[in-house]
Amino acid sequence: MRILLTGGTGYIGSHTAVELLKLGYDVELMDNLFNSKITVLDDIEKITGVRPAFHKIDLLDKVGMDELFKNGRYDLVIHFAGLKAVGESVKKPLKYYENNVGGTINLLESMKKYGVKKIIFSSSATVYGEQGVAGLTEEMQTGVGITNPYGETKHIIEEILKDVAEAEPEFEATILRYFNPVGAHESGLLGEDPNDIPNNLMPIIMKVAIGEISELSVYGNDYDTVDGTGMRDYIHVVDLAMGHVAAIDHMKPGVSVYNLGTGRATSVLEMVAAFEKESGKKLPYKIAERRPGDLAIIYANPAKALNELGWETKLTIEDAMRDTINYLDKKFKTRA
Ligand code: WQD
Repeated sequence: MRILLTGGTGYIGSHTAVELLKLGYDVELMDNLFNSKITVLDDIEKITGVRPAFHKIDLLDKVGMDELFKNGRYDLVIHFAGLKAVGESVKKPLKYYENNVGGTINLLESMKKYGVKKIIFSSSATVYGEQGVAGLTEEMQTGVGITNPYGETKHIIEEILKDVAEAEPEFEATILRYFNPVGAHESGLLGEDPNDIPNNLMPIIMKVAIGEISELSVYGNDYDTVDGTGMRDYIHVVDLAMGHVAAIDHMKPGVSVYNLGTGRATSVLEMVAAFEKESGKKLPYKIAERRPGDLAIIYANPAKALNELGWETKLTIEDAMRDTINYLDKKFKTRA
């Protein structure tokens, strides 16, 4: 089976590429390198012994996409590519709609033209908006109370996939709704290394740990949670990658949706404490105002993925912190 990973040099794409290559899949990567580095290919090769073919193409480059699919002979696309900075999406909505939605339409048109009928799509728990947040299940309503254009693009793409599946009976789409990806590969060679300014908790903790940022601002400690700080379902990126591997073996006509999370929520201060425990160092932080749009608690009910894909998370917050610190050591030669 030949698989194309769009956004394949990105954080989740690269970790998924490693697991697929280890299993002997025929994998090719495509990325515009806007938010990732070409050196990721070297790291993938060091880990797996295989250097996957790489195509530097932007989803919006119709000619490049047509050329890629004319020659690709792909059986399946795993679609990671997309802008994902929530805060930036509020400031630059058109950039997000053009890139994420427009780019996906280009991708789907190329797939249709060259007979590629299977797609796994990287979606997000953000599509649940402000619905019931305790133990989110796939049946819960989406698209209501989404607080940012980034989340809207994910929701719109999900709706596009459903409509394409209605129009084309042989089309097979699996939507994977990620919760909060964290951690790094155990080798310390791959991890979250965004080019843009991160707004997620873990990349910011990483920047505080290596001294790029002086302290972490904890966005609010007056939520109705274990310690007043926000709680999220942090899933190790390698567990997340394995969720994609599990999905491949269960593709079927129509649209299938799975929440990929641990089913447990961890607070910001619990994440700080876990990082300090693994690193043996204090992490400077201050309590700041709540961030607009944030909810108190969000976590998955991952039962459907276990029942239908035979997948569940195996790695812990402590594993994620250990692997992140190891990554920082190797990548930045800095003892976090
Ligand atoms: C987590 C917790 C913050 C930064 C977003 C996207 C979602 C997905 C994951 C892509 C919250 C707190 C954060 C900081 C803090 N991304 N925090 N100080 O908002 O749950 O989800 O990223 O799919 O789609 O919406 O993740 O990491 O931004 O925040 O206190 O400097 O950490 O308030 O409680 P979030 P996050």
